[in-house]
Amino acid sequence: MRNSGTSEPWRVGVLFSRSGCMALIEETQLRGTLTAIDEINEAGGINGRPIEPVMYDPASEASSFGHCAKRLMVADGVTTIFGCYTSSSRKAVLPVVERLNGLLWYPTLYEGFEFSPNVIYTGAAPNQNSVELCRYLMEHYGKRFYFVGSDYVYPRESNRIMRELVRHNGGEVVGERYLNLRAKRRDFVPVMRDIRDAAPNVIFSTVVGDSTVYLYQSYADLGFDSKTMPIASLTTTEAEIKAMGYDVGEGHITAAPYFQGLSGERNTAFVSRFKSRYGEDQETNMCLEAAYFQVHIFAKALAQTNSMDTEILRPTVLGSEVLAPQGKVSINPLCGHTDLWTRVGRANRRGQFDLVYESLAPVRADPYLIGYGRSIA
Ligand code: ACM
Repeated sequence: MRNSGTSEPWRVGVLFSRSGCMALIEETQLRGTLTAIDEINEAGGINGRPIEPVMYDPASEASSFGHCAKRLMVADGVTTIFGCYTSSSRKAVLPVVERLNGLLWYPTLYEGFEFSPNVIYTGAAPNQNSVELCRYLMEHYGKRFYFVGSDYVYPRESNRIMRELVRHNGGEVVGERYLNLRAKRRDFVPVMRDIRDAAPNVIFSTVVGDSTVYLYQSYADLGFDSKTMPIASLTTTEAEIKAMGYDVGEGHITAAPYFQGLSGERNTAFVSRFKSRYGEDQETNMCLEAAYFQVHIFAKALAQTNSMDTEILRPTVLGSEVLAPQGKVSINPLCGHTDLWTRVGRANRRGQFDLVYESLAPVRADPYLIGYGRSIA
């Protein structure tokens, strides 16, 4: 550790919604971020200086993310921002960090097909979740897919990729519906009727936030059976399952780099530290875990550079690795995305995911699906 000759804090921006329709999951990302910051500060900070989070609540409005990012960079003098869940909020922050040369750390799975020298992506790209999920679903449930999503960029683009995978492997998309991000339980009733008529083998959901709970509850209302026609998702975590009820979530499928129930000392210690901080009944999840480990990657790089200047920090971040709760992860120097584990889990009666698939090693991030034909055979 270097002594930088000052005890001034390292100020970083933190942008996650604490209110509105995305708070359910973004609040957990905030907790992941703050847990890592506290750990680093309790261990003496970085080169003798603590990290100080400067936080705003963009209240689940994409445009507010853009305004808050600008405020952080212009008024608060921050260059590094940890934040964003929805792709629309990331797209609102992008022009700000690009123009002012900041660095956004984005801890959420997304639709891929993006690169910015001002973003470090630590959630899964489609080659790290959609490809294996499609294979698993086709092998175990069948080839008739129904798509239901929230109406914004991630669901539409993610479905474009899933549609290609399904069609290239002899499957069929038998229906596709999009609902407002703020859709309520009653809004899903006509969708469920349509699903009953279309009789798919699998419902692929790209519904996010509070609406996730209503989607699964409406499914349960109609008496569908997750053993024969599960909902499969890239975003439904332990947090949404807890909010919908464990009985409602049981049997449904999620692909993610991380689940709370992963075995291994590192994750067990992480979960127990988290629970002792936030309460025994509080759960970790993939978005929280990415929010957590990305702060540790940042801290490791900052200890070397002793500078938050994006031009100095980013090259040090590229190629760096950390032992995360999910296992070893590294920032892929070619694309600024993270090489992550691929896992598929089925929710059980206790609101945890039982693993049904796990990669043998971290999967290289390939956000443009360059290394993938669309055939999964
Ligand atoms: C997302 O909007 N990237 C989940």
